[in-house]
Amino acid sequence: MAETQVWRVDPNAPDLEHTPQIQAAAEKLAQGEIVAFPTETVYGLGGSAKVQDSVRKIYEAKGRPSDNPLIVHVANLEQVREICTEIHPVAQKLIHAFWPGPLTLVLPSRGTVSNAVTAGLSTVAVRMPSHPVARALISASNLPIAAPSANRSGRPSPTRAEHVFNDLDGRIAGILDGGETGVGVESTVVDCTTTPITILRPGGITKEQLIEVVGLVSDDPGLVRSDQAPKAPGMKYKHYAPSATMYLVPAGESRIRELISSERAKGRRVGVLTTEEKQDSYPGVDVLLVCGRRSEPATVAHHLFDVLRHFDQKEVDVIFSETFDQKGIGKAVMNRLSKAAGGRILD
Ligand code: TXA
Ligand code: MG
Repeated sequence: MAETQVWRVDPNAPDLEHTPQIQAAAEKLAQGEIVAFPTETVYGLGGSAKVQDSVRKIYEAKGRPSDNPLIVHVANLEQVREICTEIHPVAQKLIHAFWPGPLTLVLPSRGTVSNAVTAGLSTVAVRMPSHPVARALISASNLPIAAPSANRSGRPSPTRAEHVFNDLDGRIAGILDGGETGVGVESTVVDCTTTPITILRPGGITKEQLIEVVGLVSDDPGLVRSDQAPKAPGMKYKHYAPSATMYLVPAGESRIRELISSERAKGRRVGVLTTEEKQDSYPGVDVLLVCGRRSEPATVAHHLFDVLRHFDQKEVDVIFSETFDQKGIGKAVMNRLSKAAGGRILD
């Protein structure tokens, strides 16, 4: 693949769908090429969900294992009906309450999208994003768009166009640069084929919000249908990892201070992931990166992936991270942090 084009686009521009940038990106999709675009969660890497070759390009550009299925992005309910055999009442309630927005529903597939999208499963993951640029691109192309996060497999998801550029320059046809994304962590993935519904991946819509709308919600994919293949195939892969070894430190500041001293004594360059409230607690640390305010967990989610990527530029040897309450969006934050740390927790 030759050059990756970057189209700057103002998400607040009037009649976005007919701007030259969106039209150019839609044109690439129609030609079977793949392009990155902002959503309200993270940047996605999109291709036509109906064209096997486009979907294959997505996996190839990301270096993604082909048994990890993709989310199909739609702009209206008609597209959902084309893709899924049924939207039962619980799914309808969720759609009514949270779409467009950061919620992905796993529904029975009609088999109208490429097999490569669903990785051969009988279900398909669908989401209607709220970001104006994502919506304009889906409408302009008039396609259901298959799109995983637009990062190289294993890296933190991109929340800025430059993250996408750093990972995928030369591997994709273009990037719609609509500025920083809002939520900062990916959508919540909910399996609607189980009773009760099951959260397969915590994300932008919290368990508490789901319960308010549908009552019972499970978040243990292991317990439901243990007779079947893993329900969220993506969960078994290494994810979000910065290049330095990262540890979560639930005990907090004084334990992190001890760890900083002992690592520095061994000649290692130490990074700490902190928050505004605690940033003065680590004198002598080599690299201190502030990830939002713990009093406002949404700000932590918003900055998380950018901060994880930043550690790579700072060339630290080891990273110690503060931890967060698992309430609300904190659940998604801790899920991504533990993956970034490869499950390493120090007491
Ligand atoms: O916010 C988001 O969801 C972003 C933006 C671009 O929309 N997309 C995203 O896609 O995070 P990706 O590919 O990085 O994650 C999709 C997740 C994976 O964990 C995958 O295994 C799961 O959804 N998934 C997709 N189809 C599935 C299916 N049929 N059954 C169960 N899990 C599925
Ligand atoms: Mg991803």
